[in-house]
Formats: sequence, structure tokens, C-alpha cells
Amino acid sequence: MKPSCVEYLICIGCGKGALALAVEQEESGEVLEGALTCSCGTSYPIIGGVPRMLSRKLLDEMLAEYGKAAPKGRLTDPDDVQAVQGATMDAFGFEWRHYADYDAHNYENWMPEGFDPNTGFRGKLGLEVGCGAGRHAERTAGSARTHFAVDLSYAVDAAFQRTRHLPNCHVIQADAFNLPFENCRFDYVYCLGVLQHMHDPPEGFRHLARQVRRDGILLVNVYQASRPFTTGLLEALRKITTRMPPRALNACCYLAGTMDYLICATWRGAEALGLSRLIGPFVPGRVKEYAKHTYRTVVTDWYDRLACPVKIHYQREDLVGWYEQAGYKNIRVTPYWKAFWNGFGEKA
Ligand SMILES: C[S@@+](CC[C@H](N)C(=O)[O-])C[C@H]1O[C@@H](n2cnc3c(N)ncnc32)[C@H](O)[C@@H]1O
Repeated sequence: MKPSCVEYLICIGCGKGALALAVEQEESGEVLEGALTCSCGTSYPIIGGVPRMLSRKLLDEMLAEYGKAAPKGRLTDPDDVQAVQGATMDAFGFEWRHYADYDAHNYENWMPEGFDPNTGFRGKLGLEVGCGAGRHAERTAGSARTHFAVDLSYAVDAAFQRTRHLPNCHVIQADAFNLPFENCRFDYVYCLGVLQHMHDPPEGFRHLARQVRRDGILLVNVYQASRPFTTGLLEALRKITTRMPPRALNACCYLAGTMDYLICATWRGAEALGLSRLIGPFVPGRVKEYAKHTYRTVVTDWYDRLACPVKIHYQREDLVGWYEQAGYKNIRVTPYWKAFWNGFGEKA
């Protein structure tokens, strides 16, 4: 954690800023171990270079993961929400620590048409919610003034390692429903491939929408409800896979990914032989899409779709409605292939 990030953070319990920083271990200006403490008595540990700004029960769960004891605090969550969020922390924590080098090279593809992420974030203060292993954060921090990358899960360990060389990039473990920032703080907020994994996505969207300053922008990307047959089959399979231990599921994903990759490689071979016009009409779009990706991406995406506790698909109108209800203008929602809706809006 770079000490310069403290000026932006507030206590998620009482909403006050001016958190006191206690440093236990520092390396090249980066606080690796320590704590942030609020005058209300709530303390947030810094572990492995990342402030852990979670509510009481999630914090206890997180501390057990790192073999540490709980500090003082007074924040609580209703149990059912906590169960979903705990499972989300575990599933994505395993995924992004195991596949920390993931990059499907779809940064531009996940932005709505007409928005160029290479120039759109330049010189701005921004927040990314659900940063995973930090692949987008790494790109955005290259042009933004200051970029905060937040994730609920232990993915933050991978994101921190990936971005720690960037002086303007700050990684925080926090929940979209309990963000440690004042409202209307950011020039941009984005949340890519995340809302569909939350226990209450529309409410999650409202929390993001509050973080944007007037005339600032909010970019989100969610799964499309465009392929009911495939989604239905997958949901049936997920009833088993979401209950499997991570290592066993991961082994299955290597198997599924290998078969999938071989099919994609066959299509690539056919293209190279000039047969694409002949057999192209019989090849599913999904195969053509995944043929652009690496073996590791194909395997990671199998883990991603089979492990996450929650996976919800949306219509374009859902996303437009969320922006409208949050008081956004110049709303654009455009598709990326048949898989995603990419949304854009400016805060009125
Ligand atoms: C499919 S991954 C996408 C990661 C990243 N955006 C990317 O595209 O590589 C979804 C991420 O959202 C995070 N997430 C889920 N619920 C969250 C919440 N309530 N608050 C913050 N992050 C959350 C998960 O931990 C996970 O890392």
C-alpha cells in the first residue's frame, strides 16, 4: 500500500476519513504489513501490501485465510449475504491467485462503442470495482492520474503483485456494497464482468453510481441473456461444480479447457487451410471467438464460469433502466459479441 492512498479512504463503519496509518513492515515506500485505524475504534489490517477494508464477519473470514487474529471493530452483515460473499471470496480468490497472469486481451472489447479506454481515463481519478488479478488496472493506471482497484476476494493479492510498480495504482480489498470512499468522489468508475456475480446486482450498481462525481462516467459490463439453452445447461452443471473443492474443480476445468481448445485449434487449422468459407456456417460463433484466445485463457474461463456462486444474465433494457434510475444521461449500451452488454453513462 502506498501511503498516499490514505487521504482518499474513509472508515466503512462511521464514514469518517483521516485514518491513522501504523506501519509494521515497509519495502521501497510500500507498506506491506500494518493497520489503518479510525477514531471510532475500527481497525483495518494491511496484509501483503493490501488494506483489508471489509465488514466484521468478512474481515474475520479473511484473517483466518491469512492465519491472523481479528482486530477490534463493530461492523456486521446479515448472514445470508455473508454466506454468498464468503463463497465469492473463496471462488475468485482461488481463481485469480492460481491464474494471476490471466489476460484475455479484451480491455477495449469490454468498453461500449464510442469510448476509447486508451484516452478516456487520461489524467483522471478513478475507481475499478472487482479488479480480479488486475489486468485492466494495469492498463488504466498507464494513463489515469490515480486509479483505485478494489476487489472483495483474495484476488487482490494477485492484483497487488501485478500493479505494485505503478505509483498511481492502489489495490484495496473491499466490497462494492461497502466502499471505503466518499460518494461523488471519482471522475470515472468501472466494473467489468463483476455485477453478475453479486448477490444483488441492481443494488450493487446503485452503490457504484453513487461513487461518481457530477459529469463523471460509469462503465459496466454484464453477461447477456442471449443464449438460454447454453445458459440453462451450464446452470444445471453448476449445481454440482459450485459445491466442488477448488482443486478438484480446477482439474476438471483443465480437462474441459483442453477439449475446448482442441476444437478451437481445429477451426484455426481449417481457416489456415482456406476452408473457413466452406465449413464456417456450421461452426458455432463461440468456437470462432475462443479460437482467438490462448490455452490458458480457455481453461481459466472454464473455472470462471463453473466456480462462481452467483451468475446472472441480463437484457439490454435492464442495464439501461439501472442507468436511468440512478440519474445518468447520455446512456449507451452496446453488445460485445453475444456474451456481454457494455454500458456507459454520465452522471447528470
Ligand atoms: C469474473 S471476475 C472479473 C475480474 C476482472 N474485472 C477482470 O475482468 O479480469 C469478477 C470479480 O468480481 C469480484 N467481486 C464479486 N463480488 C464483488 C463485490 N461485492 N465487491 C467487489 N468485488 C466483487 C470477484 O472477487 C472477482 O474478482
